[in-house]
Amino acid sequence: MLTLGIETSCDDTGVALVEDGRVLSNVVASQYEVHAPFGGVVPELAARAHLENLPLVMDAALREAGRTLDQVDLFAATTGPGLQIALLVGVAEAKGLATATGKPFLAVNHLRAHVHAARMANPDLRPPFLALLVSGGHTSLVRLEESGELEELGRTRDDAAGECFDKVARVLGLPGAGGPAIQKHAAGGDRRKLTLPRGHVKGAPMDFSFSGLKTAAVRAWETGDTELADFCASFQEAIVAALGKRVEKALAARPGIALTAAGGVAANGRLRERLEQLAAAHGSRFFPTPLPLCTDNAAMIAGLAESEYRLLGPSDLATPSQPGLGFRRPSVP
Ligand code: KG4
Ligand code: ZN
Repeated sequence: MLTLGIETSCDDTGVALVEDGRVLSNVVASQYEVHAPFGGVVPELAARAHLENLPLVMDAALREAGRTLDQVDLFAATTGPGLQIALLVGVAEAKGLATATGKPFLAVNHLRAHVHAARMANPDLRPPFLALLVSGGHTSLVRLEESGELEELGRTRDDAAGECFDKVARVLGLPGAGGPAIQKHAAGGDRRKLTLPRGHVKGAPMDFSFSGLKTAAVRAWETGDTELADFCASFQEAIVAALGKRVEKALAARPGIALTAAGGVAANGRLRERLEQLAAAHGSRFFPTPLPLCTDNAAMIAGLAESEYRLLGPSDLATPSQPGLGFRRPSVP
């Protein structure tokens, strides 16, 4: 079965072809330069860039996979969560192709797809397992049960972990994406130089909060005289510690349960190292997700679409895009 997946939920235009679980191609066009002057993603500009990039990315993905559109058995797109105007581009394209070719359409939940990316990369990773989803837009800790049921154990109450990296990197004046820039400058720095808050949510110990950490970090940078490397190492450590604290609780609650992480921030070397340590300390195994499947991509969209289609059949073509979708399956009210 050949599935074509489309991802346009935020600022990456992705198209991928997956055949029976195997990734044939996974092409992503980033819009980093489009939004950089504005200090954040501008939805209208994202949609316009998706419209321009999508045909090129689609051609490249088909060419790389050595397949043609009429060989595709299933068309899938992210229907949420994400920016409404950006989601619409990919959803319209997938529905249009499905209608024109008479093939089925599948609506994909972007959050579930990130978790699925970890499974695509790790065939030995089977439920039950814990997954830390950490990206520029989301931060959640979920547990996938053997029954297929997904429980969200905790989520951020304010900023996402990646957003916190990006906002602080901007204050530091670092060019490029925030997380990778901070990771780069943290190398060789002293992670114990500064103590920053880990973010505590009263009455909800598994939830995350990064806005206090962000404010404290910005104040420490603007009023202190910490070296850039020490600052970056300490700041990165505070985020890793905040994430690790909740993961540790979840590991302790279910001895031996497997652990994985996905989303852009899961590419962070120090976070991967810490999760590995925590899993080992609790008799669990950590399954890292390869970097191209951590950040936004369409292989995870096509991959999840294929499994959901086999289990539950196609989605209704009337399924709307759902910008505020949580971990539920799309189209479930
Ligand atoms: O999953 P993703 O590509 O897009 C969203 O769905 O948001 O994640 C992008 C986020 C950005 O905030 C970026 O700074 C962060 O992931 N990121 C990292 C690293 N690589 C990407 N954060 C920390 N360390 C990294 N190495
Ligand atoms: Zn994402």
